[in-house]
Amino acid sequence: MFDITLTQLLVQSTAALAAAGQASARLEAEVLIAFVFKKPRSYLYAYPEVVVSDMHCQQVNALIDERVAGRPIAYLVQERDFWSLPLYVNEQVLIPRPETECMVEAVLQLSLPDDCVAVDLGSGSGAIVMALAVERPAWVCLASDRFAEPLQVVKKNIDDLLGAQAPDNGMPARLPMLLQAEWLSACAEACFDLVISNPPYIEDADPYLDRGDLRFEPRSALASGADGLGDIRCIAKQARRSLKLGGYLALEHGYAQQQQVVGIVEGAGFEVKELGRDLAGLPRYVVAQSHS
Ligand SMILES: C[S@@+](CC[C@H](N)C(=O)[O-])C[C@H]1O[C@@H](n2cnc3c(N)ncnc32)[C@H](O)[C@@H]1O
Repeated sequence: MFDITLTQLLVQSTAALAAAGQASARLEAEVLIAFVFKKPRSYLYAYPEVVVSDMHCQQVNALIDERVAGRPIAYLVQERDFWSLPLYVNEQVLIPRPETECMVEAVLQLSLPDDCVAVDLGSGSGAIVMALAVERPAWVCLASDRFAEPLQVVKKNIDDLLGAQAPDNGMPARLPMLLQAEWLSACAEACFDLVISNPPYIEDADPYLDRGDLRFEPRSALASGADGLGDIRCIAKQARRSLKLGGYLALEHGYAQQQQVVGIVEGAGFEVKELGRDLAGLPRYVVAQSHS
């Protein structure tokens, strides 16, 4: 095998990704190479003439092949930033999306008690619950999911956060608790001030489930019945029972589902307080309040 420098590897990897139609080929090549070298991307520019070992070359080429086959970057490098947090992700969890940050931001503006008890239903990687726990260290936060594997990912993210932070430096006073359950079926009446969820909301037959990144994500995190609203109906009904009077329900939904979600939460006995949009300006979440 011929010696190859870091710059040559970068050029070659970028070309392979560009030929496969990846729009951000250069950036993706940098991210994947930096991941293999366990260095920041700036390393590639600081040491362009470094000769790459065969082992590193093979590792990079294997990742490039996977990316060419469509596997999402976040799964390849097992990380995705959400809020201010670099979160560990694997193929058992949805890749956290920026639109979910808009719902978190809205919830942080609500008038909630200092000792708020909050549950993130369908926590996946723990993106929502981790953001809440970091921003509101005194809250009691619960991460809940139907499956054990996502909860293991949340556990790793909590452990990583603990390892990364110095005491008294943005660490939640109470770490999120974990619960494996079907939505709120295991929870008592009137025990939460806040129920927040980014549930599955895509129609079972939507062809987009077999395209792009979605092909690689767990179907159980994405699809929810013929109209995509099965889980939202179930959560709204259960949340009415598990929320304290005056408590809030925040639900993410598909961009074309807002009117239907409003009907569902009002039908369950909530008063709609906010119709939220994502960064692209699309309808994306509903915040509602439980009233007498
Ligand atoms: C769209 S993902 C959201 C993940 C994460 N909260 C986020 O925003 O990135 C939906 C999550 O709901 C979970 N889920 C699906 N059906 C469920 C059910 N019946 N009860 C509880 N959790 C469920 C899935 O396992 C998945 O982790």
